Amino acid sequence: APVLFGFPSTDDLSTALASFVLAAQDDALVTKKQSTFKIAISGGSLPKVLGKDLIGRQDVPWDKWEIFFADERVVPLDHEDSNFRLNDENLFSHVPIPRQNIHVIDTSKLDDPEHVADDYEKQLVASFVGSSSIAFPRFDLILLGIGPDGHTCSLFPGHPLLNEQDGWVAWLDDSPKPPPVRITLTYPVLNHAHRVAFVSTGEGKQEVMEKVLDHPEEGLPSSRVKVISPGRVFFFSDDAALTRVKYE
Ligand code: 6PG
Repeated sequence: APVLFGFPSTDDLSTALASFVLAAQDDALVTKKQSTFKIAISGGSLPKVLGKDLIGRQDVPWDKWEIFFADERVVPLDHEDSNFRLNDENLFSHVPIPRQNIHVIDTSKLDDPEHVADDYEKQLVASFVGSSSIAFPRFDLILLGIGPDGHTCSLFPGHPLLNEQDGWVAWLDDSPKPPPVRITLTYPVLNHAHRVAFVSTGEGKQEVMEKVLDHPEEGLPSSRVKVISPGRVFFFSDDAALTRVKYE
């Protein structure tokens, strides 16, 4: 079952999240002896909460971090809606992650989201596929947000992409949350990760957290993430978001 961590404030959450991310990093680099720690990050309110404590941590081998985007809005990278820009401002620009280790979704072909998605999928294939072929990549950690409607990544309630079984990366041009054109990882990729952690804070998330945690049978997109064992799903929330939740 998913593990829920609740915190009195977002500052406390940021501190615990930083430790959690570094434990995932150690599992990848020290225990599994991988050459890189492979992490995918979303946009929304997550980058700020993530960066707050992490950027001050000492002794982080940033040169071994390999960053991917869980989803991206198809806008120029310097646009205020860009998830790259949001993560750059809150994390990348503060720490020495080599630029070639940041797998930017090249959104320069704004009118061709299929090309953008294909190009990004090639970056994933190049990074994850060694000598043997694999069905899906296995991220060490995927960090996601939860929208008030229950969406995660750019997987929205009732959208046909919820049924995607094969692709690693998908695109859509009808996102109900603007901007409409987006690139997203698919469910099979989320479900093959070693860890998926949802971060959601604030009273605006009370109703959705109740549905996601106490009524998963409603099938909101965030509830549909079912990571294959021994992988696990974690929720990091503040008390403000959890007032209606009974789940323990
Ligand atoms: C995006 C995000 C999206 C986000 C949720 C939650 O690009 O829109 O990646 O999936 O994580 O919408 O957003 P908030 O944390 O801002 O509520």
